[in-house]
Amino acid sequence: MISNTPVWLKSFIAFTHPVLMLGTVLGGLYALYLGALVRRTRTADAEVRKELIKGKFNQKHFQLGSVLLAIWVLGGISGMAATYTLYQKLFVSPHLIVGLISVGLVALAAMFAPLMQQGKEWARIAHITCTSLLIGAVFYQSFTGLKIVLKMVQEMFGTTSV
Ligand code: HEM
Ligand code: HEM
Repeated sequence: MISNTPVWLKSFIAFTHPVLMLGTVLGGLYALYLGALVRRTRTADAEVRKELIKGKFNQKHFQLGSVLLAIWVLGGISGMAATYTLYQKLFVSPHLIVGLISVGLVALAAMFAPLMQQGKEWARIAHITCTSLLIGAVFYQSFTGLKIVLKMVQEMFGTTSV
């Protein structure tokens, strides 16, 4: 790890990405909840539908989804930028590979948005497939990411080297 940099600056570079990405865990789960309500609204009988429509779950889901798309892409780039700044290289690890795959998946999931709005059922299935994989990926990334965080904390404040 770079040595002649103040610890506060190293901590800022190192921990911005984990904090940002833990936000995608919560955001992803809330998007799943809203998405389930969108589906329920669409498939409910007329009476229930009238009530559910008032929740505007489709608009809320689309807005949250757009924010998640940006955080996912920028957050993935920030992870690589932080690693490169701190170590002058990238580590080809499961966290890097799954991270890059998940950035591709979130772009694919968003690509189906206009098609879903045109009522294409296959696009809904494709969107749900991509986003289910994304939810799995974000949990996997939290697990592998927290392991990296522990290593970095030990290295920054203790004696162990990465
Ligand atoms: C982890 C993140 C996400 C999850 C779990 C998720 C899940 C879902 C689910 C379950 C549906 C319902 C499909 C149906 O009606 O059968 C849906 C619909 C939709 N999603 Fe997502 N989604 C996510 C991210 C996104 C993103 C990134 C975007 C776009 C930027 C997006 C845009 C939409 C749109 C436009 C619809 C259709 C809404 C409508 O029918 O008007 N979603 N999503
Ligand atoms: C889906 C979400 C995530 C994506 C797309 C992602 C992506 C990445 C990428 C591409 C790197 C660079 C890896 C390398 O070159 O070695 C990285 C580094 C890292 N990630 Fe993630 N990650 C995600 C979630 C998380 C989470 C939830 C945590 C922690 C709780 C985390 C902690 C870290 C740490 C500590 C690093 C080293 C650089 C730094 O400290 O900023 N990541 N991540």
